[in-house]
Amino acid sequence: MGSALRVLFVNPGLAMGGAEQSLLLLLQGLQAHGVEATVALFGDGPFRDRLSALAVDTVYVRSSRWLRSASRYRLSGALLRVAALVMAGLPTTVSLAALAHQTRADIIHSNGLKAHLLAGLAGRMIGTPVIWHLRDFPPQGYAGQVLRLAAQYLPALVLANSDAVAATIRPQNSSRPHVRRLHNSVDLHRFQPGLPRGQIRQELGLGENVPLVGYVAHLTPWKGHGLFLTIARAVTDAVPEAHFVIAGGAIYETDGHSGYLETLRQRTIELGLSDRVAFLGARDDIPEILASLDVLVHCPTAPEPFGRVLAEAMAVGCPVVAACCGGISEVVEDGVTGFLIPPGDVTGFVSAVLSFLENPSLRHKFGTSGRHRAEALFGVETHSLSVLEAYQTVMATHRAKA
Ligand code: UDP
Ligand code: GLC
Repeated sequence: MGSALRVLFVNPGLAMGGAEQSLLLLLQGLQAHGVEATVALFGDGPFRDRLSALAVDTVYVRSSRWLRSASRYRLSGALLRVAALVMAGLPTTVSLAALAHQTRADIIHSNGLKAHLLAGLAGRMIGTPVIWHLRDFPPQGYAGQVLRLAAQYLPALVLANSDAVAATIRPQNSSRPHVRRLHNSVDLHRFQPGLPRGQIRQELGLGENVPLVGYVAHLTPWKGHGLFLTIARAVTDAVPEAHFVIAGGAIYETDGHSGYLETLRQRTIELGLSDRVAFLGARDDIPEILASLDVLVHCPTAPEPFGRVLAEAMAVGCPVVAACCGGISEVVEDGVTGFLIPPGDVTGFVSAVLSFLENPSLRHKFGTSGRHRAEALFGVETHSLSVLEAYQTVMATHRAKA
Protein backbone atom coordinates (compact mmCIF):
# COMPACT_ATOMS: atom_id res chain seq x y z
CA MET A 1 0.00 0.00 0.00
CA GLY A 2 1.29 3.50 -0.80
CA SER A 3 0.04 6.24 1.50
CA ALA A 4 -1.66 5.27 4.74
CA LEU A 5 -5.28 4.22 4.62
CA ARG A 6 -7.54 6.76 6.35
CA VAL A 7 -10.75 5.58 7.96
CA LEU A 8 -13.47 7.60 9.66
CA PHE A 9 -15.27 5.49 12.26
CA VAL A 10 -18.70 6.58 13.48
CA ASN A 11 -19.80 5.36 16.91
CA PRO A 12 -22.92 6.72 18.62
CA GLY A 13 -22.45 4.87 21.95
CA LEU A 14 -20.67 6.82 24.68
CA ALA A 15 -20.29 3.98 27.19
CA MET A 16 -18.17 0.84 26.88
CA GLY A 17 -20.67 -1.67 25.48
CA GLY A 18 -19.63 -4.77 23.56
CA ALA A 19 -19.69 -2.85 20.26
CA GLU A 20 -17.19 -0.36 21.70
CA GLN A 21 -15.01 -3.11 23.24
CA SER A 22 -14.91 -4.76 19.83
CA LEU A 23 -14.10 -1.54 17.99
CA LEU A 24 -11.35 -0.69 20.46
CA LEU A 25 -9.61 -4.00 19.80
CA LEU A 26 -10.01 -3.53 16.06
CA LEU A 27 -8.51 -0.05 16.25
CA GLN A 28 -5.53 -1.45 18.13
CA GLY A 29 -5.11 -4.11 15.49
CA LEU A 30 -5.38 -1.59 12.63
CA GLN A 31 -2.94 0.81 14.29
CA ALA A 32 -0.30 -1.91 14.02
CA HIS A 33 -0.92 -1.91 10.25
CA GLY A 34 -0.55 1.86 9.91
CA VAL A 35 -4.23 2.70 9.36
CA GLU A 36 -4.98 6.32 10.28
CA ALA A 37 -8.24 6.31 12.22
CA THR A 38 -10.50 9.13 13.35
CA VAL A 39 -13.52 8.28 15.46
CA ALA A 40 -16.61 10.49 15.26
CA LEU A 41 -18.49 10.50 18.58
CA PHE A 42 -21.82 11.90 19.71
CA GLY A 43 -20.43 13.08 23.07
CA ASP A 44 -18.06 12.47 25.94
CA GLY A 45 -17.86 9.28 27.98
CA PRO A 46 -15.80 6.23 28.90
CA PHE A 47 -15.36 5.19 25.25
CA ARG A 48 -13.68 8.50 24.44
CA ASP A 49 -11.33 8.04 27.41
CA ARG A 50 -10.29 4.62 26.16
CA LEU A 51 -9.71 5.98 22.65
CA SER A 52 -7.58 8.82 24.01
CA ALA A 53 -5.50 6.30 25.96
CA LEU A 54 -4.82 4.58 22.63
CA ALA A 55 -3.93 7.94 21.05
CA VAL A 56 -6.76 7.56 18.50
CA ASP A 57 -8.09 10.88 17.16
CA THR A 58 -11.64 11.63 18.23
CA VAL A 59 -14.02 14.33 17.00
CA TYR A 60 -17.46 15.22 18.35
CA VAL A 61 -20.16 15.60 15.76
CA ARG A 62 -23.21 17.58 16.67
CA SER A 63 -26.25 15.54 17.56
CA SER A 64 -29.55 16.39 19.24
CA ARG A 65 -30.42 14.97 22.66
CA TRP A 66 -33.37 13.20 21.05
CA LEU A 67 -31.06 11.44 18.62
CA ARG A 68 -28.65 10.42 21.38
CA SER A 69 -31.38 8.95 23.59
CA ALA A 70 -33.20 7.09 20.80
CA SER A 71 -32.86 3.35 21.31
CA ARG A 72 -34.18 0.23 19.62
CA TYR A 73 -36.97 0.24 22.22
CA ARG A 74 -38.31 3.54 20.94
CA LEU A 75 -37.51 2.91 17.29
CA SER A 76 -39.42 -0.33 17.11
CA GLY A 77 -42.64 1.75 17.11
CA ALA A 78 -44.35 3.90 14.55
CA LEU A 79 -43.08 4.95 11.15
CA LEU A 80 -43.40 8.57 12.25
CA ARG A 81 -40.74 8.05 14.92
CA VAL A 82 -38.35 6.55 12.40
CA ALA A 83 -38.96 9.46 10.05
CA ALA A 84 -38.41 11.88 12.96
CA LEU A 85 -35.12 10.15 13.74
CA VAL A 86 -33.90 10.57 10.18
CA MET A 87 -34.92 14.25 10.28
CA ALA A 88 -33.22 14.76 13.66
CA GLY A 89 -30.13 13.12 12.21
CA LEU A 90 -29.79 15.39 9.17
CA PRO A 91 -27.50 17.99 10.81
CA THR A 92 -25.37 15.10 12.12
CA THR A 93 -25.23 13.60 8.64
CA VAL A 94 -24.00 16.89 7.20
CA SER A 95 -21.36 17.16 9.95
CA LEU A 96 -20.20 13.62 9.24
CA ALA A 97 -19.89 14.32 5.54
CA ALA A 98 -17.83 17.45 6.30
CA LEU A 99 -15.63 15.49 8.68
CA ALA A 100 -15.04 12.68 6.21
CA HIS A 101 -14.08 15.29 3.62
CA GLN A 102 -11.79 17.15 6.02
CA THR A 103 -10.01 13.98 7.21
CA ARG A 104 -9.76 12.79 3.58
CA ALA A 105 -11.27 9.50 4.63
CA ASP A 106 -10.91 6.64 2.14
CA ILE A 107 -13.67 4.76 3.94
CA ILE A 108 -16.38 5.49 6.51
CA HIS A 109 -16.87 2.60 8.94
CA SER A 110 -20.04 2.77 11.06
CA ASN A 111 -20.48 0.94 14.37
CA GLY A 112 -24.09 1.06 15.63
CA LEU A 113 -27.61 1.08 14.24
CA LYS A 114 -28.07 4.85 14.27
CA ALA A 115 -24.58 5.35 12.85
CA HIS A 116 -25.31 3.07 9.88
CA LEU A 117 -28.08 5.32 8.56
CA LEU A 118 -26.32 8.61 9.26
CA ALA A 119 -22.90 7.50 8.00
CA GLY A 120 -24.51 5.79 5.03
CA LEU A 121 -26.21 9.01 3.96
CA ALA A 122 -23.06 11.06 4.62
CA GLY A 123 -21.03 8.70 2.44
CA ARG A 124 -23.56 9.01 -0.38
CA MET A 125 -23.41 12.82 -0.14
CA ILE A 126 -19.66 12.97 -0.76
CA GLY A 127 -19.06 9.76 -2.70
CA THR A 128 -17.03 7.97 -0.01
CA PRO A 129 -17.64 4.24 0.38
CA VAL A 130 -19.24 3.16 3.64
CA ILE A 131 -18.89 -0.09 5.55
CA TRP A 132 -21.56 -0.97 8.09
CA HIS A 133 -20.30 -3.03 11.00
CA LEU A 134 -23.57 -4.67 11.91
CA ARG A 135 -23.54 -5.97 15.48
CA ASP A 136 -27.28 -6.13 16.20
CA PHE A 137 -30.36 -7.69 14.72
CA PRO A 138 -32.49 -5.12 12.92
CA PRO A 139 -35.16 -3.71 15.26
CA GLN A 140 -38.78 -4.84 14.97
CA GLY A 141 -41.26 -2.99 12.78
CA TYR A 142 -40.65 -0.04 10.50
CA ALA A 143 -37.18 0.76 11.83
CA GLY A 144 -36.03 -2.71 10.78
CA GLN A 145 -37.64 -2.34 7.37
CA VAL A 146 -36.00 1.04 6.86
CA LEU A 147 -32.64 -0.41 7.88
CA ARG A 148 -32.96 -3.34 5.45
CA LEU A 149 -33.99 -1.03 2.66
CA ALA A 150 -31.13 1.36 3.41
CA ALA A 151 -28.72 -1.60 3.52
CA GLN A 152 -29.37 -2.18 -0.18
CA TYR A 153 -28.39 1.33 -1.19
CA LEU A 154 -26.07 2.93 1.37
CA PRO A 155 -23.19 0.62 2.33
CA ALA A 156 -20.63 -0.81 -0.07
CA LEU A 157 -20.28 -3.73 2.33
CA VAL A 158 -21.86 -4.96 5.54
CA LEU A 159 -19.66 -6.75 8.08
CA ALA A 160 -21.91 -8.81 10.37
CA ASN A 161 -20.66 -10.14 13.71
CA SER A 162 -22.30 -13.55 13.17
CA ASP A 163 -23.99 -15.62 10.46
CA ALA A 164 -27.21 -15.19 12.43
CA VAL A 165 -27.01 -11.40 12.11
CA ALA A 166 -25.84 -11.59 8.49
CA ALA A 167 -28.94 -13.62 7.59
CA THR A 168 -31.28 -10.86 8.79
CA ILE A 169 -30.03 -7.91 6.77
CA ARG A 170 -30.31 -9.08 3.16
CA PRO A 171 -33.83 -9.38 1.77
CA GLN A 172 -34.58 -12.75 0.14
CA ASN A 173 -33.69 -13.02 -3.55
CA SER A 174 -31.61 -9.86 -3.40
CA SER A 175 -27.93 -9.60 -4.24
CA ARG A 176 -27.52 -6.47 -2.13
CA PRO A 177 -26.12 -5.63 0.27
CA HIS A 178 -22.82 -7.50 0.06
CA VAL A 179 -22.45 -9.09 3.48
CA ARG A 180 -19.44 -10.75 5.10
CA ARG A 181 -19.58 -12.52 8.40
CA LEU A 182 -16.79 -11.45 10.73
CA HIS A 183 -16.75 -12.84 14.25
CA ASN A 184 -15.45 -10.55 16.98
CA SER A 185 -11.97 -10.84 18.41
CA VAL A 186 -10.87 -11.19 22.02
CA ASP A 187 -7.68 -9.98 23.65
CA LEU A 188 -6.14 -13.41 24.20
CA HIS A 189 -3.37 -11.96 26.40
CA ARG A 190 -5.70 -10.17 28.82
CA PHE A 191 -8.13 -13.08 28.79
CA GLN A 192 -5.84 -16.01 29.48
CA PRO A 193 -5.94 -19.20 31.51
CA GLY A 194 -4.24 -19.32 34.90
CA LEU A 195 -5.34 -15.88 36.16
CA PRO A 196 -5.70 -15.68 39.97
CA ARG A 197 -8.94 -17.31 41.03
CA GLY A 198 -8.96 -15.78 44.50
CA GLN A 199 -9.18 -12.02 43.80
CA ILE A 200 -12.96 -11.71 43.48
CA ARG A 201 -13.56 -14.43 46.03
CA GLN A 202 -11.54 -12.43 48.59
CA GLU A 203 -13.48 -9.28 47.75
CA LEU A 204 -16.72 -11.16 48.46
CA GLY A 205 -15.38 -13.06 51.46
CA LEU A 206 -15.78 -16.43 49.70
CA GLY A 207 -13.36 -19.35 50.07
CA GLU A 208 -11.53 -21.00 47.16
CA ASN A 209 -13.91 -23.92 47.10
CA VAL A 210 -17.26 -22.14 47.31
CA PRO A 211 -19.19 -22.96 44.09
CA LEU A 212 -19.41 -19.68 42.20
CA VAL A 213 -21.65 -19.05 39.20
CA GLY A 214 -21.41 -15.82 37.23
CA TYR A 215 -23.36 -13.61 34.86
CA VAL A 216 -21.62 -10.87 32.87
CA ALA A 217 -23.91 -8.49 31.02
CA HIS A 218 -24.62 -4.80 31.15
CA LEU A 219 -27.95 -3.91 32.71
CA THR A 220 -30.27 -3.82 29.77
CA PRO A 221 -33.60 -5.68 29.96
CA TRP A 222 -33.09 -8.16 27.11
CA LYS A 223 -29.94 -9.56 28.73
CA GLY A 224 -32.11 -11.80 30.91
CA HIS A 225 -30.72 -11.18 34.41
CA GLY A 226 -34.18 -11.99 35.82
CA LEU A 227 -34.06 -15.46 34.29
CA PHE A 228 -30.57 -15.92 35.75
CA LEU A 229 -32.00 -15.18 39.22
CA THR A 230 -34.67 -17.87 38.69
CA ILE A 231 -31.93 -20.33 37.69
CA ALA A 232 -29.86 -19.25 40.72
CA ARG A 233 -32.78 -20.04 43.03
CA ALA A 234 -33.08 -23.59 41.67
CA VAL A 235 -29.30 -24.14 41.76
CA THR A 236 -29.26 -23.02 45.42
CA ASP A 237 -31.98 -25.54 46.25
CA ALA A 238 -29.66 -28.30 45.00
CA VAL A 239 -26.33 -26.81 46.15
CA PRO A 240 -27.05 -24.61 49.20
CA GLU A 241 -23.47 -23.32 49.48
CA ALA A 242 -23.49 -21.91 45.89
CA HIS A 243 -22.96 -18.17 45.35
CA PHE A 244 -23.62 -15.96 42.33
CA VAL A 245 -22.09 -12.79 40.93
CA ILE A 246 -23.55 -10.43 38.36
CA ALA A 247 -21.08 -8.05 36.68
CA GLY A 248 -22.44 -5.25 34.56
CA GLY A 249 -23.58 -1.70 35.10
CA ALA A 250 -26.49 0.50 34.12
CA ILE A 251 -24.26 2.08 31.49
CA TYR A 252 -26.94 2.96 28.95
CA GLU A 253 -28.83 6.24 29.13
CA THR A 254 -30.97 5.47 26.11
CA ASP A 255 -34.74 4.88 26.41
CA GLY A 256 -35.96 1.69 28.05
CA HIS A 257 -33.22 1.27 30.65
CA SER A 258 -34.35 3.12 33.77
CA GLY A 259 -35.33 1.20 36.91
CA TYR A 260 -33.97 -2.15 35.72
CA LEU A 261 -31.42 -2.59 38.54
CA GLU A 262 -34.05 -1.84 41.19
CA THR A 263 -36.38 -4.46 39.68
CA LEU A 264 -33.58 -7.03 39.80
CA ARG A 265 -32.66 -6.23 43.41
CA GLN A 266 -36.33 -6.58 44.37
CA ARG A 267 -36.52 -9.93 42.60
CA THR A 268 -33.38 -11.10 44.45
CA ILE A 269 -35.08 -10.32 47.78
CA GLU A 270 -38.32 -12.05 46.74
CA LEU A 271 -36.38 -15.18 45.81
CA GLY A 272 -34.60 -15.18 49.18
CA LEU A 273 -31.22 -14.80 47.48
CA SER A 274 -29.99 -11.52 49.00
CA ASP A 275 -27.06 -13.17 50.77
CA ARG A 276 -26.18 -15.31 47.73
CA VAL A 277 -26.15 -12.89 44.80
CA ALA A 278 -23.64 -10.04 44.55
CA PHE A 279 -24.26 -7.22 42.09
CA LEU A 280 -20.75 -6.03 41.19
CA GLY A 281 -21.72 -3.13 38.90
CA ALA A 282 -19.68 -2.23 35.81
CA ARG A 283 -16.18 -3.68 36.16
CA ASP A 284 -12.87 -3.42 34.38
CA ASP A 285 -11.53 -6.71 35.73
CA ILE A 286 -13.74 -9.09 33.74
CA PRO A 287 -10.80 -11.48 33.05
CA GLU A 288 -10.22 -11.95 36.80
CA ILE A 289 -13.96 -12.26 37.46
CA LEU A 290 -14.29 -14.97 34.81
CA ALA A 291 -11.23 -16.74 36.21
CA SER A 292 -12.87 -16.92 39.65
CA LEU A 293 -16.00 -18.65 38.34
CA ASP A 294 -16.83 -22.33 38.13
CA VAL A 295 -19.27 -21.62 35.32
CA LEU A 296 -20.59 -18.62 33.38
CA VAL A 297 -24.29 -18.52 32.51
CA HIS A 298 -25.77 -16.47 29.68
CA CYS A 299 -29.52 -16.52 29.09
CA PRO A 300 -30.69 -13.42 27.20
CA THR A 301 -34.41 -13.16 26.52
CA ALA A 302 -33.82 -11.97 22.94
CA PRO A 303 -31.38 -13.50 20.45
CA GLU A 304 -27.78 -12.51 21.23
CA PRO A 305 -26.07 -11.24 18.06
CA PHE A 306 -22.64 -12.59 19.11
CA GLY A 307 -21.96 -12.40 22.87
CA ARG A 308 -18.39 -11.35 23.56
CA VAL A 309 -18.58 -12.54 27.17
CA LEU A 310 -18.87 -16.14 25.97
CA ALA A 311 -15.74 -15.88 23.84
CA GLU A 312 -13.96 -14.14 26.72
CA ALA A 313 -14.98 -16.85 29.19
CA MET A 314 -13.72 -19.52 26.80
CA ALA A 315 -10.42 -17.62 26.43
CA VAL A 316 -9.79 -17.76 30.21
CA GLY A 317 -10.84 -21.42 30.31
CA CYS A 318 -14.20 -20.98 32.03
CA PRO A 319 -17.00 -23.34 30.90
CA VAL A 320 -20.29 -21.74 29.87
CA VAL A 321 -23.97 -22.58 29.88
CA ALA A 322 -25.79 -20.42 27.36
CA ALA A 323 -29.08 -20.05 25.56
CA CYS A 324 -28.97 -21.47 22.06
CA CYS A 325 -30.08 -18.31 20.25
CA GLY A 326 -28.77 -15.79 17.74
CA GLY A 327 -25.04 -16.09 17.12
CA ILE A 328 -24.26 -17.99 20.31
CA SER A 329 -23.93 -21.39 18.64
CA GLU A 330 -21.21 -19.89 16.44
CA VAL A 331 -19.24 -18.92 19.54
CA VAL A 332 -19.81 -21.85 21.88
CA GLU A 333 -19.35 -25.44 20.74
CA ASP A 334 -22.15 -27.39 22.39
CA GLY A 335 -20.91 -30.29 24.51
CA VAL A 336 -17.28 -29.22 24.00
CA THR A 337 -16.72 -25.69 25.36
CA GLY A 338 -20.10 -25.33 27.09
CA PHE A 339 -23.69 -26.48 27.01
CA LEU A 340 -26.31 -24.80 24.83
CA ILE A 341 -29.82 -24.82 26.22
CA PRO A 342 -33.10 -23.89 24.52
CA PRO A 343 -33.97 -20.30 25.52
CA GLY A 344 -36.17 -20.17 28.62
CA ASP A 345 -35.63 -23.84 29.57
CA VAL A 346 -34.88 -23.26 33.27
CA THR A 347 -34.61 -26.97 34.08
CA GLY A 348 -32.10 -27.44 31.27
CA PHE A 349 -29.99 -24.52 32.51
CA VAL A 350 -30.06 -25.74 36.09
CA SER A 351 -28.99 -29.28 35.28
CA ALA A 352 -26.16 -28.05 33.01
CA VAL A 353 -24.91 -25.69 35.75
CA LEU A 354 -25.08 -28.48 38.32
CA SER A 355 -23.13 -30.83 36.08
CA PHE A 356 -20.24 -28.33 36.10
CA LEU A 357 -20.50 -27.55 39.82
CA GLU A 358 -20.41 -31.25 40.68
CA ASN A 359 -17.58 -32.24 38.36
CA PRO A 360 -14.21 -30.40 38.44
CA SER A 361 -12.70 -32.54 35.69
CA LEU A 362 -15.60 -31.69 33.37
CA ARG A 363 -14.95 -28.00 34.07
CA HIS A 364 -11.29 -28.46 33.32
CA LYS A 365 -11.93 -30.37 30.10
CA PHE A 366 -14.44 -27.83 28.78
CA GLY A 367 -12.24 -24.93 29.91
CA THR A 368 -9.24 -26.28 28.02
CA SER A 369 -11.31 -26.80 24.87
CA GLY A 370 -12.70 -23.27 25.26
CA ARG A 371 -9.24 -21.76 25.26
CA HIS A 372 -8.29 -23.74 22.15
CA ARG A 373 -11.41 -22.59 20.34
CA ALA A 374 -10.85 -18.96 21.34
CA GLU A 375 -7.26 -19.12 20.05
CA ALA A 376 -8.37 -20.71 16.80
CA LEU A 377 -11.29 -18.35 16.06
CA PHE A 378 -11.05 -15.08 17.93
CA GLY A 379 -7.51 -13.68 17.54
CA VAL A 380 -7.17 -9.90 17.11
CA GLU A 381 -4.61 -10.10 14.29
CA THR A 382 -6.69 -12.43 12.09
CA HIS A 383 -9.72 -10.22 12.70
CA SER A 384 -7.82 -7.02 11.79
CA LEU A 385 -6.41 -8.60 8.63
CA SER A 386 -9.93 -9.55 7.53
CA VAL A 387 -11.06 -5.95 8.00
CA LEU A 388 -8.04 -4.66 6.06
CA GLU A 389 -8.88 -7.07 3.28
CA ALA A 390 -12.47 -5.80 3.28
CA TYR A 391 -11.18 -2.21 3.00
CA GLN A 392 -9.02 -3.14 0.01
CA THR A 393 -11.90 -4.88 -1.76
CA VAL A 394 -14.28 -1.97 -1.17
CA MET A 395 -11.73 0.59 -2.37
CA ALA A 396 -10.85 -1.43 -5.47
CA THR A 397 -14.55 -1.68 -6.41
CA HIS A 398 -15.02 2.02 -5.71
CA ARG A 399 -12.06 2.95 -7.92
CA ALA A 400 -13.30 0.69 -10.70
CA LYS A 401 -16.69 2.46 -10.66
CA ALA A 402 -15.21 5.98 -10.59
N1 UDP B 1 -18.09 -5.87 30.28
C1 UDP B 1 -17.25 -5.10 31.05
N2 UDP B 1 -17.62 -4.81 32.32
C2 UDP B 1 -18.78 -5.25 32.86
C3 UDP B 1 -19.64 -6.04 32.05
C4 UDP B 1 -19.27 -6.33 30.76
O1 UDP B 1 -16.17 -4.69 30.61
O2 UDP B 1 -19.04 -4.95 34.01
C5 UDP B 1 -17.68 -6.18 28.90
C6 UDP B 1 -17.56 -7.66 28.59
O3 UDP B 1 -16.30 -8.15 29.02
C7 UDP B 1 -17.75 -7.69 27.08
C8 UDP B 1 -18.70 -6.52 26.84
O4 UDP B 1 -18.67 -5.71 28.02
O5 UDP B 1 -16.53 -7.43 26.40
C9 UDP B 1 -20.12 -6.96 26.59
O6 UDP B 1 -20.20 -7.46 25.29
P1 UDP B 1 -21.26 -8.54 24.82
O7 UDP B 1 -21.00 -8.78 23.40
O8 UDP B 1 -21.21 -9.72 25.71
O9 UDP B 1 -22.67 -7.86 25.06
P2 UDP B 1 -23.27 -6.45 24.58
O10 UDP B 1 -23.34 -5.62 25.82
O11 UDP B 1 -22.39 -5.89 23.57
O12 UDP B 1 -24.62 -6.80 24.03
C1 GLC C 1 -23.54 -5.96 20.27
C2 GLC C 1 -24.22 -7.29 20.54
C3 GLC C 1 -23.31 -8.35 21.10
C4 GLC C 1 -21.99 -8.36 20.36
C5 GLC C 1 -21.38 -6.97 20.39
C6 GLC C 1 -20.06 -6.90 19.66
O1 GLC C 1 -23.46 -5.18 21.40
O2 GLC C 1 -25.32 -7.13 21.44
O3 GLC C 1 -23.91 -9.62 20.98
O4 GLC C 1 -21.13 -9.29 20.95
O5 GLC C 1 -22.25 -6.09 19.72
O6 GLC C 1 -20.17 -7.23 18.28
